[in-house]
Amino acid sequence: MLLENKRLLVTGVLTEASIAFSVARLAQEAGAEVVLSGFGRGLRITQGIAKRLPTEADVIELDVTKPDDLAAAAADIDSRWGALDGVVHAIGFAPAGALGGRFMQTSWEDVATTLQVSTYSFAALAAAMAPLLKQAGGGSIVGLDFDASVAWPGYDWMGVAKAGLESCCRYVARDLGPQNIRVNLVAAGPLRTMAAKAIDGFSRFEDEWAPRAPLGWNVHDAEPVGRVVCALLSDWTPAVTGEIVHVDGGAHAVGTGAATEG
Ligand SMILES: NC(=O)c1ccc[n+]([C@@H]2O[C@H](COP(=O)([O-])OP(=O)(O)OC[C@H]3O[C@@H](n4cnc5c(N)ncnc54)[C@H](O)[C@@H]3O)[C@@H](O)[C@H]2O)c1
Repeated sequence: MLLENKRLLVTGVLTEASIAFSVARLAQEAGAEVVLSGFGRGLRITQGIAKRLPTEADVIELDVTKPDDLAAAAADIDSRWGALDGVVHAIGFAPAGALGGRFMQTSWEDVATTLQVSTYSFAALAAAMAPLLKQAGGGSIVGLDFDASVAWPGYDWMGVAKAGLESCCRYVARDLGPQNIRVNLVAAGPLRTMAAKAIDGFSRFEDEWAPRAPLGWNVHDAEPVGRVVCALLSDWTPAVTGEIVHVDGGAHAVGTGAATEG
């Protein structure tokens, strides 16, 4: 099986619609052992959702902005497994003031929160887990991106955070490559998750995505994204790092309205 005996930390499971839920489900089906993380008021919700996986997963408390939580999560995994084969970073957050078309009015405080949770945390999580990945002889870190090469309606400072994440991925890949740790992003098309619902105007490009994507697109199905995350966690991409794989039905490759009938 693709992920036989892989020990994985999957962050970002909040609801069954979460991209990370699809990743965790598919990873278990492919033979992996999975531990989830949750935080704050969402922790209890994540614990409830963990029961809906094929095998109930343990949930570690991890607010990725707290160095103590990162250290405690690493210690928990160390005592559980002594090593780690893969990490999924499926974390993003922006305060309302940083989203929804108020780009030019957003305060630095709101921008700082957005960048800390959605960009810096990728490197912080990678740094905390790198010793455990090294202990396994190397491993794979995968994050979730939304194509940051253009400006989108409503996405605003989260778009800036994703542009930063794309660059962050390349630097983390540079620094962890010598330890045989691969670091990649999956740029997903729009999916109807809690994070997406928080973005005013997001529905506009949800509606436009399917007709534009050569392969079509279903905003309710995170499985195509989960499958590619699992592929990147597996041993089948041994020379891929610092990469962004688009899982968006091909929309990134065409201009507006480029998809043709028949
Ligand atoms: N939904 C989309 O359309 C879409 C598209 C491309 C990329 N993404 C990205 O996918 C990732 C997962 O989001 P999702 O769409 O599945 O939504 P989601 O709301 O299900 O997941 C977001 C997760 O971030 C977690 N989180 C927020 N702040 C945190 C913190 N301080 N510490 C730890 N965890 C924290 C939440 O608990 C939640 O589990 C995000 O990076 C998001 O930007 C989403």
